Amino acid sequence: MIRKKTKEVFLSGTGVTREFGHGKNKIIAVNNIDFEFRRGEIISIVGESGSGKTTLAKMILGLLPLTRGQIESEGKLRDISTQAKRRKYWQNIQAIFQDPFSTFNIFNKVDSVLLDCIRLQGAGHLSNEEKFEKMKESCSFVNLKFEELSNKYPFELSGGQMQRLMIARIFMLHPKLLIADEPTSMIDACSRATILDMLLKLREEIDMTIVFITHDIGLAYYISDTVYIMEHGVIVERGTADEAILHPQSDYTKRLLGDVPKIYEPWDFTTDTV
Ligand SMILES: Nc1ncnc2c1ncn2[C@@H]1O[C@H](COP(=O)(O)OP(=O)(O)OP(=O)(O)O)[C@@H](O)[C@H]1O
Ligand SMILES: [Mg+2]
Repeated sequence: MIRKKTKEVFLSGTGVTREFGHGKNKIIAVNNIDFEFRRGEIISIVGESGSGKTTLAKMILGLLPLTRGQIESEGKLRDISTQAKRRKYWQNIQAIFQDPFSTFNIFNKVDSVLLDCIRLQGAGHLSNEEKFEKMKESCSFVNLKFEELSNKYPFELSGGQMQRLMIARIFMLHPKLLIADEPTSMIDACSRATILDMLLKLREEIDMTIVFITHDIGLAYYISDTVYIMEHGVIVERGTADEAILHPQSDYTKRLLGDVPKIYEPWDFTTDTV
């Protein structure tokens, strides 16, 4: 992975905290987290089930209020207090969730899914031909044939096609930040590699920041510039992929790595003597 030169911070958080429940039932799902995401950076957030990854993603997306702390967007305190301000914030941020079905309105055919993106981008005034060209271009970016799919409903697509359509949407929307919450866990290793390739290509093309949320520390190592490791709502390790995974400081990271010893062991050619 090519490490990017330091770029400006797009989104950052200080003391970000989210509690659920009260009294004895209180859970601190995200506990006093600081983060900093730069333009074009690939960040992985790794942690076991229940460590607070999706809760953090929802707060970043503005779908869940913070109990404490603050989030800054492009150097300014994020303000999503009104619907109009939220919409403006969402113009720059997109998400891919675990279940591709949840991304689409199942009653919308593929062409209206893509037309919605054109509208969201404020390009609703384009001629039908121009819209058609944009839709075709986004489908061909992900190796889908728009003509074959435009009249279908999302449930008529295969899992792989649906994942590609999700990426075609991202290609159209050009978000500055993409949060991908385990986007690849449902599909086979081959499509997974293709989808990762597409996302990385998209990062190159539009200098998008990508936040991957995953259980897979090996994947995190290969794709990320920066890795955050989360345990029980707390960031226990943070650094470049090399720092966090090749030279972990926390016992928790060491334990996670213990499950997948091979990724950080360099190939040893010296023992290959006859
Ligand atoms: N709406 C909610 N109400 C109450 N508790 C919640 C809510 N959402 C999440 N939690 C709790 O917060 C904690 C963190 O959940 P979260 O979904 O963020 O974990 P995760 O790291 O995304 O897990 P996974 O890897 O399984 O997706 C869990 O204990 C969960 O039960
Ligand atoms: Mg989750």
